[in-house]
Amino acid sequence: MTTPSEEHPCRADRRTFLERLWGVVWLGVAAVLLYPLLRFLGYHAPRQPKLVKVHKEPPVGGFVVEHDFILFVGEKGPWAVSRKCTHLGCRLNYKEKEQLLLCPCHQSRFTVAGRRISGPARRDLPTFGVARMAEQEGKGYVVTL
Ligand code: FES
Repeated sequence: MTTPSEEHPCRADRRTFLERLWGVVWLGVAAVLLYPLLRFLGYHAPRQPKLVKVHKEPPVGGFVVEHDFILFVGEKGPWAVSRKCTHLGCRLNYKEKEQLLLCPCHQSRFTVAGRRISGPARRDLPTFGVARMAEQEGKGYVVTL
């Protein structure tokens, strides 16, 4: 007859295996429960920056309209402003004559620097980093979204 301290080695291995399996199951359950909770709370995994090449070099005072941003070139250098309205996300149009970004959905208005002027949007537009394209890639700018 064996005492409790003299367990069969296979029995201990089975217990260890079951304990580890139980731990993995609990990790899986925790991940399944936490993921939607974190999503609900607004957690977003940091995304990779997206580089967009603009193969144009507008003169000072000029601009280039792209899908996600408008690149302006001023005396102090270039800058890029998002075209996504901070109200509900409509794509902004640039009114060159008035030097304004105008939302076609609910008429929010922004300056070329992205500052909110009027409308239901409450926040300024995000701006993006702009760098001159490397010499070997040609002329233009790289915008980091
Ligand atoms: S989406 Fe632009 S003002 Fe509403």
